[in-house]
Amino acid sequence: MNEHVTLSTPAEQTVERPNSRKVFIKTYGCQMNVYDSTRMADALASDGYVTTEDMAEADLILLNTCHIREKAADKVYSALGRLRDMKTARAAEGRELMIGVAGCVAQAEGEEIIRRAPAVDVVIGPQTYHRLPEALRRARAGDRVVETDYAVEDKFEHLPVAEQAKIRARGVTSFLTVQEGCDKFCTFCVVPYTRGSEVSRPIRQILDEARRLVDGGVREITLLGQNVNAWRAEGPKGGEWGLGDLLYSLAEIPGLARLRYTTSHPRDMDDKLIEAHRDLRALMPYLHLPVQAGSDRILKAMNRRHTAEEYLRLIDRIRAARPDIAMSGDFIVGFPGETDRDFEDTIRIVEEVNYAQAFSFKYSPRPGTPGADLPDHVPEEVKAERLERLQALLLKQQAAFAKSCIGKVIDILLEKPGRNPRQVIGRSPWLQSVNVDAKTSQIGDIIQVRIIGSGPNSLFSEPIQSLINY
Ligand code: SAH
Ligand code: SF4
Ligand code: F3S
Repeated sequence: MNEHVTLSTPAEQTVERPNSRKVFIKTYGCQMNVYDSTRMADALASDGYVTTEDMAEADLILLNTCHIREKAADKVYSALGRLRDMKTARAAEGRELMIGVAGCVAQAEGEEIIRRAPAVDVVIGPQTYHRLPEALRRARAGDRVVETDYAVEDKFEHLPVAEQAKIRARGVTSFLTVQEGCDKFCTFCVVPYTRGSEVSRPIRQILDEARRLVDGGVREITLLGQNVNAWRAEGPKGGEWGLGDLLYSLAEIPGLARLRYTTSHPRDMDDKLIEAHRDLRALMPYLHLPVQAGSDRILKAMNRRHTAEEYLRLIDRIRAARPDIAMSGDFIVGFPGETDRDFEDTIRIVEEVNYAQAFSFKYSPRPGTPGADLPDHVPEEVKAERLERLQALLLKQQAAFAKSCIGKVIDILLEKPGRNPRQVIGRSPWLQSVNVDAKTSQIGDIIQVRIIGSGPNSLFSEPIQSLINY
């Protein structure tokens, strides 16, 4: 899970009724929010809303927010300031504009949002999205609605599923949340407070949703969870299933060519999951496995509950099972008490693992988390210097990985039209964008290409075999 996505939900080809209302959803934060935004769009569709990409024509603007770092939360308040002016201008024209705040800022701040941003009509936390249409009705009747309980009912049982046409319009790859919440309580992190404790969706629900997605043309599914490999559920014949078992079962769905999952915690990588990487052709050889820091002292202060050595040995086992696996990670620099020596340990672990891709952040103290109350906060300029050095190293590794792909013959899944009309953008097993000459009618196919070059964010290739679907 990575807080690096900010996008609006694309408008979909839905039959538009003449008086249907329009919703603009802006998504901040991680992939789980991206998934939730599509589920909210589906819930609103059954209430007569169609999605729009044009904020100016929206009757409802929904911000699906992230609270992970201070800057992420600040962005929401500045967006709300701009929306207040828009709402005032609309009111002068006699037109309705409703404003909703969903996601992790909604859960963390609740009522406080309405106090700070009175233009907001609805504040709704991630556990209660199935109550969104009802919350809007109450808001329209004049209430200020704050829904931040941890609902007793299973929201997924109550959220409507998308129609096949809509799934088709959303493309050939899809997210599917299988697990929510976190019990790990890393001392820097707000997620256990905003998303609650770990909950796993039952197997039947997941398999049904995956089959629906595949029937709608989806070829690749990424299973999501704040701690996706902590997923556990009762197996069909009793006994407990873990994520490895679930992957074996999903890999049997005809037409589902590729599987991924994110984000994993090193402590929950069990043998079955590692075996799945060895056995399943559909399971892509790419693993996002954050370590955060390389110093055991800092790992302990972060409550990660493993050492640097344990992380490295775990990667050895994963690489032994799947030698071509590409590693990805997250790092925090400048956690309270981090010395130059501790930071050198982070550099060392990065050198040892050799990441294909990674995200790195300056530590951001979050009120209410134990880290915020620790002594010896690292000065901002030291954090900035460390981040710069770490990012230079990670970028170097990423570029070297891309270069090492040149000359290789690989399978890519054709995902979307490219910039040039004869080009299509595909995805490599290692999550890189790959440009290739192909027809848009081939989108959804897996083809074989030879990589002939690498740019800063994508690879270039020539087609070898136009169809090798499996
Ligand atoms: N569940 C995942 C990721 C959670 S949040 C895991 O355990 O790895 C995504 C990333 O944001 C984290 O991996 C961490 O690197 C970063 N992050 C979380 N809290 C942060 C904070 N207070 N300051 C800076 N980065 C933070
Ligand atoms: Fe946050 Fe740690 Fe949970 Fe990841 S494992 S969501 S970093 S508390
Ligand atoms: Fe952000 Fe919440 Fe995801 S805090 S990273 S949107 S779980």
